[in-house]
Amino acid sequence: MDDEPFNIMLLKGLLTRMGWNAVGANNAKTALKVLDRTYDLVLADVMMPEMDGFEMVRHIRKNPETIDIPIIMVTTLSEKEDRLKAVEAGANDFITKPVDKLELSVRTRSLLTLKARQDDVKRFEAELHGMVETRTLQLRRTLKDLKNASYETVNRLAGAAEFKDDDTACHIKRMSWYCALIAEKAGLSENKVELVLNASPMHDIGKIGIPDAILLKPGGLGADEWGLMKRHPEFGAKILSDSDTELLRISEQIALTHHEKWDGSGYPGGLSGEAIPLYGRICAVADVFDALTSRRPYKAAFSIEKSIDIMKAGRGSHFDPRLLDLFLNNMDRVLEIKRRFQD
Ligand SMILES: [Fe+2]
Repeated sequence: MDDEPFNIMLLKGLLTRMGWNAVGANNAKTALKVLDRTYDLVLADVMMPEMDGFEMVRHIRKNPETIDIPIIMVTTLSEKEDRLKAVEAGANDFITKPVDKLELSVRTRSLLTLKARQDDVKRFEAELHGMVETRTLQLRRTLKDLKNASYETVNRLAGAAEFKDDDTACHIKRMSWYCALIAEKAGLSENKVELVLNASPMHDIGKIGIPDAILLKPGGLGADEWGLMKRHPEFGAKILSDSDTELLRISEQIALTHHEKWDGSGYPGGLSGEAIPLYGRICAVADVFDALTSRRPYKAAFSIEKSIDIMKAGRGSHFDPRLLDLFLNNMDRVLEIKRRFQD
């Protein structure tokens, strides 16, 4: 870039013979207009009308597109002060006029090599960045698959335990969504709500250990039969015990404690109040409400009103009062779940 057409012609000729592809401009504004990231080097005159070389260099350095292009100032000035000014503006090197062919060759080659290295590094960084993004995406997808697989597996396992009993086909679905609703309203994190949703289907998994003759018996159970039936929390906890995963640890807790009662009259531990794990207390509310509002071999489904009354009667005796209130205060959501998973 030079305001003298003769100088442009001369430099272009020299550069072309060195094997470079050179473009000339005879004022700073035109040069700035065409300059973009595809250029590898700028040779700029210092003394020019309108915009001088220093000003132009500052413009090149301000533009993110051209910020890294090496700049050689071609100058008749040899004063130290002007060179410092050029460096301050952002120039990388100097060539004095009249231009010496060898000097031009050495300086352009050195800066173009540097630029090529810089471009390599940038390309590598971009590739690396892209690769990291792709891998992260793959990893995330795999993790999601794994999580879904474990959720699906426990749901199917829970389904297998209920398989014998048609009346409870949708019970585990409704019950787990009721649990998630209470967990959400109790202020648990999104992650915990999701865990409760997927852990609660296994609350009755221990029924696998109860003989069909007892499990499917119409009418009341004898004392011994009832004694065995009451061991299903313990059986379930045993099936789910000693897991390293949070999902199964919560499932174990739910299986073991979903028949505990707030006043200590439940089973198998006779735990009371907050000694009953939160997930067990949540599950108790959800489980009983669904049992009341569903048809069972030994009873017809109660109406919503009657079921709510029975639940209220158990406030503070069977159920954690706070959790029961959260459940009953969100009846619209409860009924929406009930509608969604009809038997
Ligand atoms: Fe149960």
